[in-house]
Amino acid sequence: MKDKVEKAAIKQIELDEWNHRKEVLEIMRQYSIPVSKYYEFRFHIVGKIISYSCYIIGWFMPYYFAGRLESGNVCEYFRMMQYFHELGIIEHNQTLYEMGIKEKEHEIYFLGKIKNRKLLPVFEKIFSWGATKSFNDIDLEKKYPIEESKVYCKK
Ligand SMILES: [Fe+2]
Repeated sequence: MKDKVEKAAIKQIELDEWNHRKEVLEIMRQYSIPVSKYYEFRFHIVGKIISYSCYIIGWFMPYYFAGRLESGNVCEYFRMMQYFHELGIIEHNQTLYEMGIKEKEHEIYFLGKIKNRKLLPVFEKIFSWGATKSFNDIDLEKKYPIEESKVYCKK
């Protein structure tokens, strides 16, 4: 990754994720949900392995799997909002909506970087994510506002 602009974009995505982590932690604290030491440890290791592997395997796969991961994260926020609604809790709507949309932006960013690569159709077949397949039904061009976002992620 030689490009300064690209590095800055990736850095921004990292900052967004740290911010999401902080916001999710706040919600968890509010409901006294403990942080899983096992997950903290497991994903720390996963992150380290992936970050070191980037020096070896080139950039297509890190971009691809980052995009695929983001794609799956989008609905986690919308579903969380829907579960809260079942309990009559609406105070987290704004935060959860924004985080879900942000993840979609990340997905689209990574997809944009690899969409013309010859490997993409192959990976799309095997790993079920790519130019025509997504793990969510959000369309940034035709976004629903918060009040109507309950239609998202029903499958
Ligand atoms: Fe993200």
